[in-house]
Amino acid sequence: MSDGFVRAFGVDEIAPGEARVATVDGVEIAVVNIDGEFHALENRCPHADGPLGEGFVQGDAIVCPLHYWEFDIRTGEYLDDPEVCVRRYETRVEGSDVLVRVR
Ligand code: FES
Repeated sequence: MSDGFVRAFGVDEIAPGEARVATVDGVEIAVVNIDGEFHALENRCPHADGPLGEGFVQGDAIVCPLHYWEFDIRTGEYLDDPEVCVRRYETRVEGSDVLVRVR
């Protein structure tokens, strides 16, 4: 029986400090590498649906490319108002693959 984790990328496909976009089980996600630790967020900024995974990573934050809202990658919280959040998804590294569970 499947545990719901699906391959999104190879570990070598996202360098530390970078984000990339993937579609997993029909959900568009942003996968981010922070110093070898992988995180997955919904690829839709809560401000105006900007593509977060096309933004840039600054330390533990990802900056939306449209109007530069910054989100904590580890919690999904908007740095100026933690009440506003981006959805996060579970990730796991298995061998050379980054797996994400969106369901
Ligand atoms: S759409 Fe992301 S900051 Fe506006």
